Amino acid sequence: MDKLIVHGGATLRGAINISGSKNASLPILAATLLTAEDCIIRRVPDVSDTNYMIQILSALGGDVERSSGTVRATCADIVDHAPYELVRRMRASICVMGPLLARKGRCVVSLPGGCVIGDRPVDLHLRGLEALGAKIEFEGGNITLTAKDGLRGAEIDLRGTHGPTVLGTDNVMMAATLAEGITIIESAAAEPEVLDLANFLNSMGAKITGAGTRRIVIEGVKELHGIEHTVIPDRIEAGTFMAAAALAGDGVILRRVCRDHLKAITAAIEQSGHRVDFNEAGDICTVHRSEITRGVNIVTAPYPGYPTDMQAQMTALLATTPGISVIKDTIFPQRFMHCAELKRMGADIRVDNGTAVVHGVAQLSAAPVMASDLRASAALVLAALTAKGSTEISRLYHIDRGYEHIDEKLLMLGADVERVKDH
Ligand code: EPZ
Repeated sequence: MDKLIVHGGATLRGAINISGSKNASLPILAATLLTAEDCIIRRVPDVSDTNYMIQILSALGGDVERSSGTVRATCADIVDHAPYELVRRMRASICVMGPLLARKGRCVVSLPGGCVIGDRPVDLHLRGLEALGAKIEFEGGNITLTAKDGLRGAEIDLRGTHGPTVLGTDNVMMAATLAEGITIIESAAAEPEVLDLANFLNSMGAKITGAGTRRIVIEGVKELHGIEHTVIPDRIEAGTFMAAAALAGDGVILRRVCRDHLKAITAAIEQSGHRVDFNEAGDICTVHRSEITRGVNIVTAPYPGYPTDMQAQMTALLATTPGISVIKDTIFPQRFMHCAELKRMGADIRVDNGTAVVHGVAQLSAAPVMASDLRASAALVLAALTAKGSTEISRLYHIDRGYEHIDEKLLMLGADVERVKDH
């Protein structure tokens, strides 16, 4: 296993390119199961989550190869049983359910386990697929869905107690593309990644309207064909580097971003006193760190609200921002693993009932810390950038799940980091 050593105190300068979106790539890769023809997908980040999905497609019988950021997938002869060994390692594997069911009339996928950010139920996915006509059985930790006579369009409300479901919306939307008749999804997730998937599906010949809003309408078609597609920029990677620039930067430039997807993150960073300038096209931003900053209140919410995937990173920034900040995660109320580690570095944070109250301190100090989940790990890297001394972050594989070459990008910005083997 690798660990990252971050020597605090370096000032970040210069420019980096933001990678393609992990969370758009995963359902789009799964959507290649809906056709027997070649699909070419560009700007798929080289991270372990997308590589797991590529392995799952291959294990299902797909002919898949990656060359740098471009993946070619041809899922001509596929089986309907996703391999437990791979599925158990990544919760997002659940998004092969919809396409497999639509293409094969049956699919067997293992129930995803929980994870450190909280319970990861799939009841809303199943509610939607059942409404399209799937029969559902649970056996030996697997979910088996069958629709011998094919799927039929339905009106479905996918709202859950914590709001819409991103992958649940993806699963139902993908299944509905080949269903008989019209499907209406109410309370749909409106994340940019859902819209990117819908654009991919429409290029394949699907008939989807309303993606990116709470109400999506899908008119089923007989079959879908292969296409070429470029994935949208990763707004969470961009947000993570915006927070790094606000913490330790001096005019850091991020290229290949999408201003529209970053509104809530930009607002939070500017509310705490920093400035973010975008170019005319909105695909390049410059973050200007300010010395006069203040605490802010953050409440995560479904898009276009403040993303839960940027909650830990903002907590790291606010840990050394003067004043009191209150951060509430309404989507994953248990997603505060990073706070215990930040407190070991000297942060003053009290977590209670899905809310963290942060009193900004002057400076954190280095300590050996352990990554726990993707975004918590990123928060520790951010905190280490300005901590006194050298911080060792172990279990780096958590970061490698969703950040493409994070150490190399930080080095390009002048951070003093090194990736070493953790014996
Ligand atoms: C997606 O996960 C993202 N993953 C997550 O990012 C992100 O945190 C999450 O959406 C919320 O924005 C990918 O896109 C691959 P949900 P997803 O279904 O779709 C509850 C990262 O760091 N729920 O939108 O699995 C659920 O417990 C990852 O990149 C049900 O109750 O999340 C949660 O409280 C982490 N029943 C809320 O809904 C269900 O059937 C939102 O979950 C499904 C979800």
